[in-house]
Amino acid sequence: MLDLKKYGVTMWEEEKIKSFRKALLDWYDANKRDLPWRRTRDPYAIWVSEIMLQQTRVDTVIPYYERFLHHLPTIRDLAVAEEEVILKLWEGLGYYSRVRNMQKAAQQMVEQFDGQFPRTYEEIASLKGIGPYTAGAIASIAFDLPEPAVDGNVMRVLSRLFEVNHDIGVPANRKIFQGMMDILIDPDRPGDFNQALMDLGSDIEAPVNPRPEDSPVKAFSAAYLNGTMGKYPIKAPKKKPVPVAYQGMIIRNQHNEFLLEKNQSSQLLAGFWSFPLLEKGAVLDKQVSLFEVAEEPVQPDTRQSFTDQYGLIVDWQDEEFSPVQHIFSHRKWLIDLTEGIATAGSLPADRELKWVAVVDFHSYPFAKPQQKMWESYLATKNKK
Ligand code: ADE
Repeated sequence: MLDLKKYGVTMWEEEKIKSFRKALLDWYDANKRDLPWRRTRDPYAIWVSEIMLQQTRVDTVIPYYERFLHHLPTIRDLAVAEEEVILKLWEGLGYYSRVRNMQKAAQQMVEQFDGQFPRTYEEIASLKGIGPYTAGAIASIAFDLPEPAVDGNVMRVLSRLFEVNHDIGVPANRKIFQGMMDILIDPDRPGDFNQALMDLGSDIEAPVNPRPEDSPVKAFSAAYLNGTMGKYPIKAPKKKPVPVAYQGMIIRNQHNEFLLEKNQSSQLLAGFWSFPLLEKGAVLDKQVSLFEVAEEPVQPDTRQSFTDQYGLIVDWQDEEFSPVQHIFSHRKWLIDLTEGIATAGSLPADRELKWVAVVDFHSYPFAKPQQKMWESYLATKNKK
C-alpha cells in the first residue's frame, strides 16, 4: 500500500470514506447519464467505449461506438477485419494507433484466451493498448472488480478533495491518485464509483467553468472548504505543437479522377489516403501564423518537385483555396492547396498511388486534415 503521507495526503477515516461513497453514488443514481455503454455488461463493448473516450468527447463517441459494434460485434470480428475497414470505422476520431492496437489486442485474445475477454486485472492489462486506466475501467465496469480507473478527470476531482500538491500532468504522480483510489473505491459498486467520478469530473468539476456549488461532495472537498479551488489541480502548461507547412496537391486527370496516395510511413496517419502532400521546407518558426504561410506564393520548385516525385506533367491552375490547419498533439499542420490537371506522364511504382473518382472516396480512409483539404477545395469550387 502506498504511503500517502509521504505525498502530503491525509486520507480520511473509515466513517468519512463510507459517507463519501454514499454521497457520490446517491448522486450518480439520480443523475447518471444514460449512455449506450452503460446498458451493457459486455466487456468487449465496454472496452470499445473506453478506448474511444480516451481522447474524444462523449457526444462525438456515441455514433462511432454504435457503428463500430454494428460492423464488428465480437472480438473475433475485430481480430480478422481489414485495415481499411477499421480505419474507416475510426475515421475522424484521430489517434489511430488506438484502433490498430485494439485489433492486435483482439488477435491476442483469440490466440491466448480462446476469443474471450480475460477476467482478471493483470490479464486485461497485458493486452496491447490497454494501460492501467483502461484496465481498471473494464475490470470494474464489466467484472465488478475493485480496480480504480484514474484518468485526468479523476485526478482533478481528487486533487481538489484532498488539496494534492503534485502535478497531475506528471506521469509518475499518477500512483498517488491510484493509491488514494485503492482506499476510496466502493468495494460493492466499483464500476459505478469510477463512472460517478468520471461524470463529476467531466461536468460539475470540468476544467473550464466548473460549478463547485453543485457538487454532491463539496462538503468533503478541502479545496472547496478552504477557498483554494482555483489552485487545484496543480498542472504545468502543455508545450505548444510545432507547426509544419505543406503544399497539398489536388491533382485530377482527364477522367475527373483525383490522385490519392497511401501514407506508407509508420508515423502519423500511416495507412491513410491523402492528396499528395509536399513538405514546404523547414519546420517554421513557432510564431508564424497560418495566414503568413498561406500568403507565401506556391513555389515553382514545389511544382517541379511534384513532377519529379510523381512523374506527371501538370497543367497548374490559378484558383485559390483557403488554407487548412490541423492540430495533432505534437504537430500543427498548415496546408496550402494547389490544383492541377495531369496531362501526361506515368506514376512511379515505388509509391502507392491511385486515381479515384469522387463517388469512390468512401472506400479510402481519409484523416481529418484530408477531409478539411477536400472541404476547402469544394468550398471554392461551389462558389462558382
Ligand atoms: N469517460 C471515459 N469512460 C467513461 C464512461 N464509462 N462513462 C462516461 N464517461 C467516460
